[in-house]
Amino acid sequence: MKPKQDWIETAKKNAAKEAVRNVKDGSVVGLGSGSTAAFAIEELGNRIKHEGLHVLGVPTSYQAFMLAVKHKIHITTLEEHTTLDLTVDGADQIDENLNLIKGMGGALAREKIVASASKKLIIVADESKKVKVLGENNQPVPIEVLPFAASYVMRKVGDAGGKPVLREGARKVGPVITDNGNFIIDAGFGPIPKPERLERELKAISGVVETGLFVKMVHSVYLGKRQGVGKLYRRIK
Ligand code: A5P
Repeated sequence: MKPKQDWIETAKKNAAKEAVRNVKDGSVVGLGSGSTAAFAIEELGNRIKHEGLHVLGVPTSYQAFMLAVKHKIHITTLEEHTTLDLTVDGADQIDENLNLIKGMGGALAREKIVASASKKLIIVADESKKVKVLGENNQPVPIEVLPFAASYVMRKVGDAGGKPVLREGARKVGPVITDNGNFIIDAGFGPIPKPERLERELKAISGVVETGLFVKMVHSVYLGKRQGVGKLYRRIK
């Protein structure tokens, strides 16, 4: 059997490849961030090159922007296209109702804006991301905050039952600075049976720019498995 990392990389690639089949000629596409979305951007570039597809992309981060340039995807902006046909993006956790935690790559604010502007949000992930309840396995909720408000938001997150940690840079001293010039707080809440309620509570804190809880936003999920790709559709309640 292949080592774990190997099958995960293949699963991500396969999920991305299948999801990108949904892109039709002439569409405006949201380009997600993270390692799985990167495979989707590459695949979109392949389709443009080999099928002559005409597509415009709206990147959700500098990472997505640079990959789009590399793979020769024409870029557009939300100013020019306030409605997108679809977005293909990754996720950190996916629950049974296809609600998500996103933002371990720090791109959650732009990801949520671009997803909100899209007619369809299609998620690509390997099956290790699928859980019963969000917040399992100590998965924190990333929260983007104005630097000015960071300590205050951390206190309020504590009041809401969370354990907030200011995200530190990996090859930079001090806090991570997002593409929007903000900080990120990773807040552990344990299992989150009611993500909609927590999302409302967090968004009501002054200084919170956006949270990584994506509730009732997903159209479908392409889940790369050890064998093949599973397709899940959100039931609209
Ligand atoms: C970026 O901020 C995130 O929302 C990513 O979409 C998420 O972290 C998934 O990334 P991977 O595909 O690299 O796991």
